[in-house]
Amino acid sequence: MKVTIFGTGYVGLVQGAVLAEMGNDVVCVDLDENKVAQLNQGHIPIYEPGLEELVTSNAKEGRLAFTTDSAEGVSHGQVIFTAVGTPPDEDGSADLKHVLAVATTIGQYMSERKIIVNKSTVPVGTADKVHATLADTLAQRGEDIPFDVVSNPEFLKEGSAVHDCMSPDRIIIGTDSEYAEEVMRELYAPFERKHGKVMVMDVRSAELTKYAANCMLATKISFINEISNLADRLGADIEAVRQGIGSDPRIGYQFIYPGAGYGGSCFPKDVQALIRTADDIGFDSLLLKAVEQRNASQKQTVVEKIFKHFGDVSGKTFALWGLAFKPNTDDIREAPARVVMEALWDAGAKIQAYDPEAMEQIQHAYGNSQSLRLCGTKESALHGADALIIMTEWQAFRAPDFELIQKELTEPVVFDGRNLYEPKRMAAKGFVYYCIGRPA
Ligand code: UGA
Repeated sequence: MKVTIFGTGYVGLVQGAVLAEMGNDVVCVDLDENKVAQLNQGHIPIYEPGLEELVTSNAKEGRLAFTTDSAEGVSHGQVIFTAVGTPPDEDGSADLKHVLAVATTIGQYMSERKIIVNKSTVPVGTADKVHATLADTLAQRGEDIPFDVVSNPEFLKEGSAVHDCMSPDRIIIGTDSEYAEEVMRELYAPFERKHGKVMVMDVRSAELTKYAANCMLATKISFINEISNLADRLGADIEAVRQGIGSDPRIGYQFIYPGAGYGGSCFPKDVQALIRTADDIGFDSLLLKAVEQRNASQKQTVVEKIFKHFGDVSGKTFALWGLAFKPNTDDIREAPARVVMEALWDAGAKIQAYDPEAMEQIQHAYGNSQSLRLCGTKESALHGADALIIMTEWQAFRAPDFELIQKELTEPVVFDGRNLYEPKRMAAKGFVYYCIGRPA
């Protein structure tokens, strides 16, 4: 099938590469000339395991092409995906300008029936807006060409995006058009080899499903973080509690790891956007507001423990392991590590930081500063620091050389925002060890 994808961010690029891998003829359109030039040379702008191989091999086979030419993109695809960004407005609602600009572009250039598929995370009602925008543009041209707008939200996770896209749990298709449903079922048939995954529903339910999924997951995290605060204050061990509740299949073990709060480009933005949607229709979304508040406080937890231990941190130096918002990504958007760094800088401390993938992003975000030294290895970040702070659970941090840590730090103090080590073992090794919701 001929497919066009507008937007070559995480979602668009992965979707394009995976559809090409299945044998479709895919054209990806992005307005950023530099990005398109890089992609045509096989350079992937993001770190995502397996993606570079997939993009280069499919481009070589001639099934995947990148262009800045919107007209070419519109004429190519029978199905046109919109996977452009929906950054939060100042008030937290999703900004639809890129999504609607794509709708206008499609309306300007289409000359035969098209299916427009919203892949970006967009508020309930967006498909209707896309429909209206496209219809207006066609009317201005005096054209009356049929088209369908489908909602097909994406559920991939950064770090396992290719795998998630290749083997989705479910494929949600929101449409009331039989024609669009049949074309989408055909497009996704190769992903259903093991069992049926396609769920067809009305457009608004599909749009809400995406937000409900992310908000449910964010709720699980904020819930366990809340309980970890109680554990800290009651002398209980959140690790025992986590296993105790996770063993109930109705609760489950997944997504109840306590930590320094959720980050990334999705949960914070989507929780805020759904709160905003609720506000707009006069509904006070009490639970989601609490989820968001707990997360904002949770990001301060490690900072509070540091201040409690040291009192004044002015003039102190901290080793920081982990800058990305989670492992296996170089993404630092809304990363809890940034909250910690900024709080320590405000208090006059310096940071020596290391992350396996996110160094360039941090350099880009903060530039060169006296207060931030980016180190080439996790060991060099330790040298002469007053304590070690861990903010991302990269595998390489799970079994470090503890003797070396002790030797390099001026004091054997570790603040762990991801509960990587056993408190008793750390105490036996002579560390002062602070983690989340576990007794020292
Ligand atoms: C999330 C969802 O998991 C995807 O299903 C969804 O498609 C995606 O958003 C999206 O809307 O595009 P992602 O943001 O890549 O994916 O990251 P997650 O793996 O879900 O982690 C989010 C945050 O939650 C991270 O900061 C992580 O450290 C934190 N987390 C996760 C916890 O603190 N505890 C947990 O138990 C799990």
